[in-house]
Amino acid sequence: MHQSSPSRHANLINWPFKPMSETTKKFYLTTPIYYVNARPHIGHAYSTIAADVIARRQRLLGDDTFFLTGTDEHGQKVQRSAAAAGIPPQQFTDEVSASFRNLWKRMGLTNDDFIRTTDARHKRGVQRLWRVLEERGAIYLSSYTGAYCVSDEAFVDLPAGTPCPDCGRPLETVTEENYFFRLSEYQQPIIDLIESGTLHIQPDTVRNEVLSFVRGGLKDLSISRTTFDWGIPVPGNPKHVVYVWLDALANYITAIGYGAEDRDDLTAEQKLDEQAKFERYWPADIHLVGKEITRFHCVYWPAFLLAAGLPLPKSIVANGWLLFEESKMSKSRGNVVRTETILDAFGDEVYGKQFPESTKADRDLFAADVLRYFLLREIPFGQDGSFSFDALITRYNADLANGYGNLVSRTLTMVGKYFSGVLPTALDTRYKDGDTLAFKAKFIGEVAGGLTPEGIAEIELLLQSLNFSAFIARVQGLVKWADDVLSQMKPWKERETPEETRKVQTQALYQASEMIRIITALLYPILPYATASVWQQLGLGSIEQAARDGELKVLQWGGLKPGTKLGPLAPIFPRADKGLAQIMTDMENPTAPVPELTEASSIPTSEALNAVHPVESPAAPTNIPQPATDNSPLISIDDFAKVDLRVAQIVVAERIPKADKLLRLEVVLGPNYPRRQILAGIAEYYTPESLIGRKVVIVANLAPRKMRGLESQGMVVAASIGPAGAPVLASFLEDVELGTRLK
Ligand code: MSP
Repeated sequence: MHQSSPSRHANLINWPFKPMSETTKKFYLTTPIYYVNARPHIGHAYSTIAADVIARRQRLLGDDTFFLTGTDEHGQKVQRSAAAAGIPPQQFTDEVSASFRNLWKRMGLTNDDFIRTTDARHKRGVQRLWRVLEERGAIYLSSYTGAYCVSDEAFVDLPAGTPCPDCGRPLETVTEENYFFRLSEYQQPIIDLIESGTLHIQPDTVRNEVLSFVRGGLKDLSISRTTFDWGIPVPGNPKHVVYVWLDALANYITAIGYGAEDRDDLTAEQKLDEQAKFERYWPADIHLVGKEITRFHCVYWPAFLLAAGLPLPKSIVANGWLLFEESKMSKSRGNVVRTETILDAFGDEVYGKQFPESTKADRDLFAADVLRYFLLREIPFGQDGSFSFDALITRYNADLANGYGNLVSRTLTMVGKYFSGVLPTALDTRYKDGDTLAFKAKFIGEVAGGLTPEGIAEIELLLQSLNFSAFIARVQGLVKWADDVLSQMKPWKERETPEETRKVQTQALYQASEMIRIITALLYPILPYATASVWQQLGLGSIEQAARDGELKVLQWGGLKPGTKLGPLAPIFPRADKGLAQIMTDMENPTAPVPELTEASSIPTSEALNAVHPVESPAAPTNIPQPATDNSPLISIDDFAKVDLRVAQIVVAERIPKADKLLRLEVVLGPNYPRRQILAGIAEYYTPESLIGRKVVIVANLAPRKMRGLESQGMVVAASIGPAGAPVLASFLEDVELGTRLK
């Protein structure tokens, strides 16, 4: 599908922007703001990565680009999560919000701001928006009883107790005195805006869904809550807090200065600056959103803006879902993959092994490139796509290690060898009849001929229309082409005369190098770290600088000047071992099976393991009686008896280099047992010093397993607290003898 011709795609996608040469001066791009009830996973990274690619591209085109992301921190769901974690909501949101922000930094994402809905600037802005809506008669007070989904923060038109159609959790009855927004008045205006394309919605499937939802009729919308208080107080009636979606959607304007005139923390001059910012960047050029939240963005948000007399966003673009084991990756399903796992695994095990002197920051950026590439290449944008560690490694090795990376290495190594690292002069690429060179002359002419400015623009159009996967596939086609140039021309082969050998080398290596330059410039928004290295190796200096200088904007054959001296050469994409998949799986579940303690005990079944340490696993089948916990199927007492739980004492505890989450422990079970090593995923919560001498409970009969090259011979039992699964080690009030078995 995604191999279809670029011009056809451009028509399909109906991109709302002007051609490149006439791009508008500013470009404002947003991601959804992420709920803080869960730590970030690669589903969140997916949206933010896509936005980063778009932002980098708009910047290299010369647009004054503003890229916003942030966190959505109010509402009952967050309040409940904080209560479950036993900490005040502000502290809870501070911590989780920081984990998003820090992760984006680790990945080198270039968001220009990070908005939190608990920011004072945001609260002021939302209250200003509320007052404007009220003054313009768009809000009234009434009462409402209905079935409410706490998880989705939305009233649902179904009986209470039935499962929510979106997330499946039971609906609760909520009666409230509520403020209402006159959404019903905006039905026709919204239909008109969408049909006329003034409000552009991409892809078409989403546009059609939204249209049929709106055509079905719009009821007025409840926009305040009184049943909880973790929210922004309604101006003039602080018994109410603002409905979390009105609060959240407003981030797109509060972050760029809306409501700044009401802020007492700003000087008059700063307020003017903020207002100017709002004038400059609003309306947004693209709101990038997950497909499940398009109704809020394509219906409610435009209606709020119309009611407030503000301009509408130009386009709303929906991305599909990342699936893991066939269902949407989400915290509530317990099937998430953490981005940190990929950063640590590729960063440390692939890049770190090749470059032991590298900093953690470099490793992170390298690994972030790998994830960016995979997600955007593997999944046609807008559709759902499966994630697996195996697919990630296979794609990496095929396209990056053996493809692009290998092309760069072999080409530049030959330039080093045959031309002492100075790019040779390009000859006329079109060979004359009767040429004696041992390669296909016509083929060579095609290289430069195919990479005309129009040819390149055609490829770029795929990126411009957010067809990332097709774009990358086309660039991979160029990699293949450059490889073919080399294998056809064989610059390493001796010819009849030294002159002829030289001629072939000159021709082949200039062409391949120039193709690498073009490929690298094209891939820069997708692979900002790796392309920076290639650019340096080509002797072209900083690619970031080239992007700022507009040098990546118009790509023309022949831009690589003969005589350019290559920079120091280094591998770009070291091959990843297949074993990396297991390392990543272990990192996701840092519980290590261990050797048998007694001859009588045997390896426990996975059910038994779940009973003592409920790992995140798919829900149990529904045809058997359900125990009190969500995930564990019932087991018999015999199953439980198979698990050899013992009291042990920690005698050594230390950090493991390059593993932020793991501690290496040595524990003893008493004089009759050998000391054993256990790797425990608790480094973020316990300092090594605090553990020495502590008595803990271990699962003593798990099969040993290697993690980070070390054998783990047991598992420490811990409670898993709150959304982050913070571990609290099991222990006893009474002093219990070492080696005692738990039954
Ligand atoms: N807080 C709201 C959005 C408010 S915007 C004014 C919200 N937050 S969320 O954290 O649940 O999800 C935010 C976004 O994360 C989704 O819209 C989507 O873009 C991204 N994703 C979360 N899980 C995802 C996948 N499994 N796959 C792809 N994207 C995912 O909704």
